[in-house]
Order: sequence, then structure tokens, then C-alpha cells
Amino acid sequence: MVCSTERPKILVIDDEIGTRESLRFLLKNDYDVICADCVDRGVQQARESHPDLIIMDIRMPGKNGIQGLRELRAQDALTSVIMLTGFGALETAQEAIRLGANDYVNKPFDTSAMLSLASRFTQRSHMERKRVRMLRELQDMNSRLVEDLAAKERLANLGQTSAEFAHDLRNPLMIVMGYINMLDQQLAKARDMLGNEFEQAADYLEVIEKNLHRCYDLAQLWQNANKGDLGQFKPVPVASMIEDLVMSVEPLMAAADVTMEYSIEDGGAVINGSHAQLVRAIHNVISNAIDAVTPGVGVIRLSCIYSDSFVEIKVTDNGSGMSPEVLKRMFEPYYTTKPKGKGTGLGTVIAHRIVEEHGGTITVTSAVGSGTTVGVKLPVMSESVSALS
Ligand SMILES: Nc1ncnc2c1ncn2[C@@H]1O[C@H](COP(=O)(O)OP(=O)(O)OP(=O)(O)O)[C@@H](O)[C@H]1O
Ligand SMILES: [Mg+2]
Repeated sequence: MVCSTERPKILVIDDEIGTRESLRFLLKNDYDVICADCVDRGVQQARESHPDLIIMDIRMPGKNGIQGLRELRAQDALTSVIMLTGFGALETAQEAIRLGANDYVNKPFDTSAMLSLASRFTQRSHMERKRVRMLRELQDMNSRLVEDLAAKERLANLGQTSAEFAHDLRNPLMIVMGYINMLDQQLAKARDMLGNEFEQAADYLEVIEKNLHRCYDLAQLWQNANKGDLGQFKPVPVASMIEDLVMSVEPLMAAADVTMEYSIEDGGAVINGSHAQLVRAIHNVISNAIDAVTPGVGVIRLSCIYSDSFVEIKVTDNGSGMSPEVLKRMFEPYYTTKPKGKGTGLGTVIAHRIVEEHGGTITVTSAVGSGTTVGVKLPVMSESVSALS
């Protein structure tokens, strides 16, 4: 339990030393009493020490209590203020109440009445401050909730639309796959006629077919992801995952006139996960690298190292790099620095989610003008593919 030893504070503002000292004597056992002999010093004391109650004389030379009250209320609306009035000054006292004083007491005051007022009004200030603090916290909480809800709603809408999109996409994909099969058969028939070119054409067709299957798998995964079902994890050999990845990004590299370098030492590692999801995660990282480099001089290095029951796949580019601000925000949903229509700001969100679902981590280092390295570290289930089979 936390005990507060702080006593309530009372500020007395009165030009008469007699009143100040008698109030100090009366209140000092239960309160911290501070005194000021004029309005200006009183207002300053109130600003510095935030009293729970101010007892202020109305009649003072220079600025009087009514002016003092205006200044005090302008700087703090919550502290309780009791005015001390002379005999027969009812109208002034009533004006003070209109201006925001909480009560008034005639001089000379009755000590037990003053003690009970002090207790009542210090508690009132305390409760008022608590109420305002709680209200502010509630408002903060409320605006945070509204923001969260808006973000969730946007994601829910996106989820629904993309599930429908994924569903519809599978139909034309099936049709294209059917035609690829027919083309494959036609090609086999024309084998003699084509000679050497047959092998190359068959290779191209195989790549197209594999990628179509990938699209189909992705569409299905996407639909399931919306239902909260991310599919069954299976042993995924890192080598085959990288092979598929390279195959899927090579045409993009060629189109963007970017050089790709590889160094793969996967150690035959196997990840327990989803092949299509992992390819999708790293594909997003590589797409960002492609967007960041300059055509003709852009180089992207893909490395894969196995050590200590982890594989680390690193994608390093010599592109624009990121400022600390972009680096801090890059994983936020919908955050993009790309022109409208080019980026949705979801690539890193997708990659991050997939890597997390596989028990892995993503680290990013970047410097403006020199490039970026994204490291995807994933736990492996076995040191060797052959050990599994
Ligand atoms: N390798 C990189 N080099 C420079 N900036 C990067 C790199 N990777 C990410 N970024 C920055 O992070 C931002 C967010 O990336 P993210 O992949 O989430 O969205 P996007 O690429 O803009 O759009 P999307 O991937 O949805 O098409 C990018 O707009 C870019 O500013
Ligand atoms: Mg991206």
C-alpha cells in the first residue's frame, strides 16, 4: 500500500498580520499553511504551490480580493476559495460568489466554523482535481479506443474485400492452369519441329506453371487467413523455399534492371511452417529492396546462413536507405512513402506477421544514401533435410 504523508495546503492572503497569524495558528495542526500579505504575492504563491484552499480577504490596499479572485480563477479553476468579508459587506461577498468564490466568512470569524469550512473545502478541491484527472484519463482512453476501433474496422473491411478477391481470383487461375496444360501437350507434339528450342520453351512453361500454382496457393491462404486459419505447418526445406523465392523475384529484378547476388549456406535446414507464406514474407522484403535501388546500378544481395538452430535470411540493398523516422514507422499498417497506386503500406506488415507466426524475428538496419539490410531469423526444426526423410 502507498501512504501519502502530504498534508492539504492552505494559502492565506490578507494584509493584516493579525488575521494571517491567527489563521496559521488555528490551521497548522492539520494543514500546511502558507501566507501572503498582498494579492500579487498570493497569486504567485498559488501558482507555485497549488494550494487546496485559499482564504482571502476582500478589503486590501492595492489590488483588492475581488481582483485577486479574478486572477486566481484565471490560473486555476479547481482550488476552493473562501473570502473574508468585513461586517456589512454582503453585496461584495455576493459578487465574489458570482466570480467563482466557494463561500464567504464574516470577520471576525468563528474558529470552529472556520475549521469545518477548511476541512470541507480542502476535501472538495481534492475531489475536484481527482474528478478532472479521471475525466482526462477517460477521454484519453476513449480517443485511443476510437483510434483502435477505426484501425480494426479498416483492417476488417480490407480482410473481407480481400477474401472475396482471393476467392474470385482462383477461378481465372484455374482456367489459365488448364490452358498451360494444353500448351504443354501441344509443345510435346511439336517437339521434333522445335528442336533445341523445345527444351527452353518447356523450361519457361514449367516456371509459369509453378508460379501459377503459387498464386493459387496464395489465394487460398489469403482466404483462410481471413477466417483465422493459417493452415497446417509442414516441414519446409529452406533450400527449396529460397529456390522458389529466387524464381519468383528474378523476373522482377530483370524488369527493374537490378543485379542480384546470392550466397546460400542453409546447411540443409528445415523450418516448420508454411512454404507459401514464407516465400510471400521474403518476397515482400525483396520487393521493397527493388523499389529502393536505382535501375542499372542497383545490387541486391540475398544471403542465407544457418547457425545455432536458426537460419538467417538477409536481404541487403544499395538503395535509398531510410531516415530514422521512416525506419521507426515502416511496420505500421498503411504506412508508405511511395506514390499513390504504387505502395499500400502493407508489405512489411504481412512479412512481420508471417515471420512472427513462425517464431522468428525481423531486424532492419538502414542508412540514408547507402542502403538497407533486412534480416529474417527463423527457428529450424532439424539440421538436415535428409534426417527427416
Ligand atoms: N529496403 C528498403 N529501402 C528503403 N525503404 C524501405 C525499404 N523497405 C521498406 N522501406 C520503407 O518502408 C515503407 C513501408 O514498406 P511496406 O512494404 O510496408 O509498404 P510499401 O512498400 O510502401 O507498400 P506495399 O508493400 O504494400 O506495396 C516503404 O514505403 C518504404 O518507405
Ligand atoms: Mg513493400
